[in-house]
Amino acid sequence: MPLSHRSTLTQYLIEQRRRYPGASGDFNALILDVALACKAIARAVAFGELGHAPCQDGGAVGGTGVGTVVGNVGGGINVQGETQKPLDVISNDVFTRMNDWGGHCAGMASEEMDDPYQIPPQHPRGKYLLVFDPLDGSSNIDVNVSVGSVFSVLRAPQSVVESGRDVVEADFLQPGTHQVAAGYALYGPTTMLVLSVGHGVVGFTLDPNLGEFMLTHAHIQVPAETQEFAINASNSRFWEAPIKRYVDECLAGKTGPRGKDFNMRWIASMVAEAHRILMRGGVFMYPRDTKDPSRCGRLRLLYEANPIGYIIEQAGGRASTGRAAVLGVQPTALHQRIGLVFGSKHEVERIERYHAQPHGVDMPSPLFAERSLFRS
Ligand code: AHG
Ligand code: MN
Ligand code: MN
Repeated sequence: MPLSHRSTLTQYLIEQRRRYPGASGDFNALILDVALACKAIARAVAFGELGHAPCQDGGAVGGTGVGTVVGNVGGGINVQGETQKPLDVISNDVFTRMNDWGGHCAGMASEEMDDPYQIPPQHPRGKYLLVFDPLDGSSNIDVNVSVGSVFSVLRAPQSVVESGRDVVEADFLQPGTHQVAAGYALYGPTTMLVLSVGHGVVGFTLDPNLGEFMLTHAHIQVPAETQEFAINASNSRFWEAPIKRYVDECLAGKTGPRGKDFNMRWIASMVAEAHRILMRGGVFMYPRDTKDPSRCGRLRLLYEANPIGYIIEQAGGRASTGRAAVLGVQPTALHQRIGLVFGSKHEVERIERYHAQPHGVDMPSPLFAERSLFRS
């Protein structure tokens, strides 16, 4: 298709900005810096095992300068107690480096940093907080399956903007409804950037020739009805009753209460699952379970659940803890985990109804209970 038929990300942002005649341009500059970070991470991911290739300058083949990018060498343990892949660390560095100099951010927070990141003293401080998971699904890196980056933009509290003081954890503890924008990049067969600045959801595909994100998905909507669900079924013995019931009913298919067959997917990369659901519907569940009593979910509220929840709701879907809208949750800690269910609206509402019923079950069918595949 000729270039003139497609908008670039820059053009889209400028056109959106015309809604706000007083806007300074800081927000657009921030999103463009995030997009540049995603392009750099896309290149690092694309080199895969070639990142091991010895080069004269010690960097990776192709001049990314990223060195070894697969395997576990060069990583550490993050604040979650999880092993970091080298690409987790590299992606985090790319995000902070691309966004700390422009004067748009007051501070940042990331899955890979225990504490908030302070804008270095030589750079001006801005009015936004950037919160991100720089590489989501990184267990998939070594097997060449899609990974992504996911980010959320919040306003810095007035006291931060006025004083230029260092940011602290409490500055980031804002509910998802306060997000100014959210997005993700998906490093799959194509690299895509999916974004919401509060007026619906749009998708851009990276044109590898131009190195530009081009608008390819102008108005993304989650289909309301679906026959596809995603959950890590190896955790089934730890699920609560409402989730067991929902999955059992899906598995029962045509012969069960849903009266239709369901399909199942599990990529183990939330960004990729969210993208599939935005494209063709479905429901994703990483619910609260009893596997580890010290945590009430697997995914992190501020930089996984909230940005994905914002995008899904902007696309007409729903995101929930199972009990309430995830975007309404008041965070209590930077790295807080939460149960997350998102996707096609009617399915998520059904799961919420199951949670609202005593014991998660209203009319147990003895026949159905006997046939349950996931009874504990
Ligand atoms: P991360 O790689 O940032 O730690 O996130 C991985 C998350 C999420 O993307 C995915 O849905 C989930 O963890 C996978 O969990 P399982 O290992 O239980 O499949
Ligand atoms: Mn993640
Ligand atoms: Mn991650």
